[in-house]
Amino acid sequence: TRKIIMDCDPGHDDAIAIILAAAQPQLEILAITTVSGNAEIEKTTQNALKVCDLISLNKVIVSKGASEPMVRLRETAPGIHGDSGLDGPELPEPSHSWSEEHGVDTIIRLVKESAEPVTLLPTGPLTNIALALTKAPEIKSNIEEIVLMGGGTFGNWTPTAEFNIWADPEAARKVFESGIPTVVMGLDITHQALATKEVIAEVNGIDNRVAKIVGELLVFFASTYKEMFDFDGAPVHDVLTVAYLVAPELFKTKDVNIVVETKGEYTAGTTLVDLHGVTGRAVNAKFGLELDVDGFWKLMIDALKTY
Ligand code: BDR
Ligand code: CA
Repeated sequence: TRKIIMDCDPGHDDAIAIILAAAQPQLEILAITTVSGNAEIEKTTQNALKVCDLISLNKVIVSKGASEPMVRLRETAPGIHGDSGLDGPELPEPSHSWSEEHGVDTIIRLVKESAEPVTLLPTGPLTNIALALTKAPEIKSNIEEIVLMGGGTFGNWTPTAEFNIWADPEAARKVFESGIPTVVMGLDITHQALATKEVIAEVNGIDNRVAKIVGELLVFFASTYKEMFDFDGAPVHDVLTVAYLVAPELFKTKDVNIVVETKGEYTAGTTLVDLHGVTGRAVNAKFGLELDVDGFWKLMIDALKTY
């Protein structure tokens, strides 16, 4: 089994990523740590707890992480995820509270304690990961890989920047400069994973409560993506990080250099993905290019059937 920490800002696609991960016997979720992103930190943390209740994942520690980006002012995404960060389905209030330990300290402690290297799955702004690496740089040697959702060769929050990187560019830069093996699921590949009407119909055809809630999450998510981007279906961005761990054969990636723009007047938060090696800078990431879309949805549907 592979030990993972899910660092997230649920978030419709973050929630579905947790649901997919929890159904995989080959993954052991050590913790869910939360960050401010799609909504304020209290909301993303409550949402993580609600998702844990939904799938009875109650033995996994949920720790509340950073409430603000490292340097910049916080900005959330209610236009995409609603005011709660997880609008759509009616989920009961969480049955228990978050841990007293700060998310950053949970990451540091669990990576240090683990007998085997730990893989980090950040699916929100990279604030917690950057803070953990700053506070305890020695944890690097016990991190197997970082598989993150963020960036791309184009943007969704500014013309060139993707939301997670844009929300905390200084943190993202720290992660990309860390030297830790990093896999990047950016918009180029996550936009291939569209939860279309057909996908939603398949999810709704599964007769259990988890699938029913996922169906409702996808319907809400699709409605805001229609409104904001005129997409037919929402891209389930964050879910690709989990799918990559479980079924890397579904992904075509390229080894590239990526740097994060932190200073640009118009371009802060942009990932410069050197697809053609024009900079001569050393490779620091595996960048997702192409997804086996049918294989991806089969993985998701099969996982939902296990609930
Ligand atoms: C990313 O931003 C959030 O809206 C999603 O949860 C995803 O992590 C996509 O840009
Ligand atoms: Ca997210």
